Amino acid sequence: MDRRDFMKKTLSGVAAALAVSAGTKAGIAFAEEKRTAEEEGKMKILVLTGSPRKNGNSNTLADYFIRGAEEAGHEVVRFDAAFKNVHPCIACNKCGMDGPCVFKDDFEFVRAHIVDADMVVFATPMYYFGISAQLKAVIDRFYAINGRIHRPKKAALLMTYADTSAAEAVPIEKHYEVLLNYLGWTDAGRVIASGVWPAGAVKRTDYPQKAYELGKRVGRS
Ligand SMILES: Cc1cc2nc3c(=O)[nH]c(=O)nc-3n(C[C@H](O)[C@H](O)[C@H](O)COP(=O)(O)O)c2cc1C
Repeated sequence: MDRRDFMKKTLSGVAAALAVSAGTKAGIAFAEEKRTAEEEGKMKILVLTGSPRKNGNSNTLADYFIRGAEEAGHEVVRFDAAFKNVHPCIACNKCGMDGPCVFKDDFEFVRAHIVDADMVVFATPMYYFGISAQLKAVIDRFYAINGRIHRPKKAALLMTYADTSAAEAVPIEKHYEVLLNYLGWTDAGRVIASGVWPAGAVKRTDYPQKAYELGKRVGRS
């Protein structure tokens, strides 16, 4: 058993004990349900996408990842940032890095799911050697829940770009790595799809299959 499994089991044991001492049927049922889910390796997964192309390449990878993860029994929720209203952080610091944000917009969905998520998946096109602004706006808004997301979680990166040079993917991969390192999250896998420009081009490659397989195995990695 690794350290994370140990912590999860210990914490779920404490949660179960608290629920029992509270003596509520709902509390007991919740604790038992949570323990069963953990024993089976089932995770809550939040997928954040950043492309404005609905049938684009990174969204296709997200679709395949989700299919694999759901087939493996995980609970997946998806947030398509490009089709939501997420105001960029304005650094007002009213949240104090752990409180309500001045903007009451679609980020509330992320706020509601990310704290309890066991895994967060980032799916993005490469835009000028970085992640898309739509996804970056979501990540910057982590600031208001910073105090609550520094917990062990798994993560994955699904990224698509037109060029074929692996060196050009390095800045995004590096960003992903330092973000995970800062948050204390663990990389569960990446699909970096190069050489795909038009929407749908990725379907003519084996990257979707890789995303599907990643979704299937994340509970075990
Ligand atoms: C604004 C913009 C910037 C882009 N910048 C890059 C780039 O720096 N390098 C690259 O290889 N492709 C670049 N591309 C191409 C996309 O990364 C590529 O088409 C990708 O597969 C799009 O993913 P999507 O279909 O999920 O939106 C850019 C495309 C756009 C629209």
